[in-house]
Amino acid sequence: MPDIIISNEGAIRKIRINRPEKKNALTLAMYDAMATAIEDASTETSVRCLLLAGSAEIFCAGNDLNDFVAMARTGALGAPIVRFLHALARCEKPIVASVSGAAVGVGTTMLLHCDQVIASDTAVFLTPFVSLGLLPEAGSSLIAPRLMGHARAFSLLVMGKPLSAEEAKTAGIVAAVVPGAELDAQSLAVAREIAALPTESVAAARRLMRGSVEETVARIDEEVEVFKTRLASPEAQKAFAAFLSRKN
Ligand code: COA
Repeated sequence: MPDIIISNEGAIRKIRINRPEKKNALTLAMYDAMATAIEDASTETSVRCLLLAGSAEIFCAGNDLNDFVAMARTGALGAPIVRFLHALARCEKPIVASVSGAAVGVGTTMLLHCDQVIASDTAVFLTPFVSLGLLPEAGSSLIAPRLMGHARAFSLLVMGKPLSAEEAKTAGIVAAVVPGAELDAQSLAVAREIAALPTESVAAARRLMRGSVEETVARIDEEVEVFKTRLASPEAQKAFAAFLSRKN
């Protein structure tokens, strides 16, 4: 099975993160596969809603930390990461996310671009960017304070405090919390409900509600520039090495 499974179910394009042996940590190839699926969806009239999902045990453990180590050596953030983030920000179709287990780092920040996040009661959202010597990305430094206020965004993005599914709902990230056994069916039902609405009206409403795409893209790019310097910092190098050598 590929690490990213793309399937179409009627008008729904499903993107499933499927690298459970590495807790669905994202490699450059996985970012590219997701970016292609999102970019293509914007121009394919048959696709009326995207559904982003992980595994039952985990949504996504964030960026692959081995890749971060390699990127710090070259001083460049992998182009597929930036491509994926731009694709998310520019996506013209509504996105539903289905989250079970942990959503770490970009696993959480990608959700800020989704229109309806359905979480199982086991879901937990955490962004340990700063303790890794990094900083919030994916436009989260812009979107999260607007969504939940500065204090709660600071607690999540800077202090690295995790949110339970219910807390993420109160913070405005999550639309509904459902029992784990019902997650797949309920997420698909929400995607189908959105897909059945008049497409042009959904697109127009969504465009207005999301605000300036260019502002979001510009913030993503600004974050990327600082992120690159932070990746090479001694704090980040030490944190990556500590995680990757845990079992040795
Ligand atoms: N990058 C690379 N590999 C990762 C990874 C990541 N982000 N997250 C997990 N893995 C790998 C582990 O190295 C381990 O590999 P191994 O079996 O070859 O040793 C495997 O996935 C299982 O992870 P493990 O930590 O044993 O699972 P767990 O259930 O005890 O913990 C997490 C799950 C998600 C809490 C934990 O793996 C974790 O904290 N991951 C790092 C998250 C992170 O910091 N992401 C970056 C945010 S910017």
